[in-house]
Amino acid sequence: MAALAPRSALITGANRGLGLELVRQMAEGRSAGTRHLLACCRHPDGPRSEALQELAKRHPEVITVLQLDTTDLSSIQKCSQQAGSLLGAGGLNLLINNAGIIAHGTMQTTSPEEMLATFNTNVMGPMNVTKEFLAHLRAAAAASGTAGMSCSKAAVINISSVLGSVDITAQSYSAYPALAYRISKAALNMMTACAAQEFKQSDILFAVLHPGWVKTDMGGEGAEIEASESVGGMLRVMDSLTEKQNGAFLNYKGMPLSW
Ligand SMILES: NC(=O)c1ccc[n+]([C@@H]2O[C@H](COP(=O)([O-])OP(=O)(O)OC[C@H]3O[C@@H](n4cnc5c(N)ncnc54)[C@H](OP(=O)(O)O)[C@@H]3O)[C@@H](O)[C@H]2O)c1
Repeated sequence: MAALAPRSALITGANRGLGLELVRQMAEGRSAGTRHLLACCRHPDGPRSEALQELAKRHPEVITVLQLDTTDLSSIQKCSQQAGSLLGAGGLNLLINNAGIIAHGTMQTTSPEEMLATFNTNVMGPMNVTKEFLAHLRAAAAASGTAGMSCSKAAVINISSVLGSVDITAQSYSAYPALAYRISKAALNMMTACAAQEFKQSDILFAVLHPGWVKTDMGGEGAEIEASESVGGMLRVMDSLTEKQNGAFLNYKGMPLSW
C-alpha cells in the first residue's frame, strides 16, 4: 500500500481507469494526516461515476466528489472555489492531472477536430487546472513549514505517456501511430518542464509520469499491467520525489524516460 501522505490531493478524471484507482489506493492506504481527497469528474451523477460514488460512500470522511470538466474554464474555476472552501489555509498539497483522451489516427487520417480536441483535453486541460489551483498549491507550500520539495508539500503530477517521447518515435510509430495523442503528450511534457522552472522558487514540484501500458478503457484489455500495479507504482514514485526530480519524466517504476 502506498505510503504517500499529503494532507490534501486532487485527482482529475477520477471516475474510472487510473483516476479511480488513484482515489481508491490513496483512500485505503492513507495516513492519519490525509484529510481531503478531492475526486473530480465531468459527470458526478452520471452512470460512469457510480463506482466513484460507491467508493466515496465507503470513505465519506476523506473523499469529496467534485464536478470538473478540464476543458471548461468556468467548471475549473467553480471547482477551485469549492476546493478552497474545503481546504482552507492548508491549501492543496498534490494535484494529479490524470484526465486524458486518445485519438488513434495518423497524419493523413487525423481530422482538425480530433487534433484540437486532443490538444484541448491533454494540454490546455492540465494547464488551466494548474493555473486555477496555483493559489491553493502556493498556500500549501507556505503552510508546510519545511524546506525542499515533495508531493506531501506542494506538487503537480501530470500523467503523460511514453508515446509523448520524441526519442522513441522511430521504434514505435508504425505499431502505434496515435499522432494527435503523441503530439499532445509531448506538449504536456514540455509544459511540465517549463512549469518546473517557473515555479521552483515557490517550492512547487512538477513531474510527468508514464503509468505503463495499463488495462483501462484507454489501454484496452490487451495491455501489459493492471491499474492496481500501475497506481501502486506511481504512488511509490510520487512518495519518493524531491527537488532533485523537479521537472523529471519518469515511469511508474521510477525509471527516467527519454524525452
Ligand atoms: N491506460 C494506459 O495504458 C495509459 C498509458 C499511458 C498514459 N495514460 C494516461 O493516463 C491517464 C488516464 O488514462 P486511463 O487509462 O485511465 O484512461 P480512461 O480509462 O479512458 O479514463 C480517462 C478519464 O479521463 C476523463 N476525462 C476525459 N476527458 C475529460 C475532461 N474533459 N474533463 C474531465 N475528465 C475527463 C474520463 O472521464 P469520462 O468518464 O467523463 O470520459 C475518465 O475518467 C490519461 O492521461 C492517459 O493519457 C494511460
